[in-house]
Amino acid sequence: MALRGVILAGGLGKRMDPLTRITNKHLLPVYCKPMIYYPIQTLVDAGIEDILIVTGGNNAGDFLRLLGNGSEFGLKHINYTYQRGEGGIAEALGLAEHFAHGEKIVVILGDNLIEKSIKKYVQDFRKQPCGAKVLLKKVQDPERFGVAEIKGNKIINIDEKPKKPKSDLAVTGIYMYDPKVFDIIRPLKPSKRGELEITDVNNEYIRSGKMTFDVLDGWWTDCGTFESLFRAGSLVEKELCKGGKKICEY
Ligand code: G1P
Repeated sequence: MALRGVILAGGLGKRMDPLTRITNKHLLPVYCKPMIYYPIQTLVDAGIEDILIVTGGNNAGDFLRLLGNGSEFGLKHINYTYQRGEGGIAEALGLAEHFAHGEKIVVILGDNLIEKSIKKYVQDFRKQPCGAKVLLKKVQDPERFGVAEIKGNKIINIDEKPKKPKSDLAVTGIYMYDPKVFDIIRPLKPSKRGELEITDVNNEYIRSGKMTFDVLDGWWTDCGTFESLFRAGSLVEKELCKGGKKICEY
């Protein structure tokens, strides 16, 4: 059975005001394409064709106008659902339960861009009998992210935005889960920032000994701040200059 893909693209994008006053953050330009194009392509390149976009905010209709049924990506259909307010990543993921149909899912945050394919990690997860997988990446500013603590070859804890990070390995916004994830989300309580945290979900899998991880190959960036949005555009542009990939051509 093919894995299903979920792209989380909700929120009000307040950190990016005024850019987000008239559209959703995930539709802002990253060099030559709207941000959301990159995570869609990441899933499609990994062989995932059943995709749900969880959006929210005041401009959710813009996704449909832009993407339609995803024919630009060779898709027959895109599913959409709506998250009210800003309840966090885990709450947004909870809305995907009916879509998952009891299958494993690959989740990607709509503002996460990566250089290389995730196909091999997805294939490994397909073989993993149950549990979850996170993809980590070494960064210079771990305090901005969920940070993994590794002992031997095991991930033993994730701290969300720690003041004193225990490593420089950020948890990227690419997560793979078995269908139990929805039972883990249901009883979660909001964190100090008033959100259901994906880090709480991941720590539950770690506690039950069912979390695996890989360190992502190639560059990774989010686009959740002005600086990282700018960096993402530059990384895509550099990729183009290498000449190998025709990112902006159809
Ligand atoms: C979220 C997660 C964090 C993860 C990051 C990746 O942070 O909470 O653990 O490292 O995405 O982009 P947020 O974008 O909500 O600050």
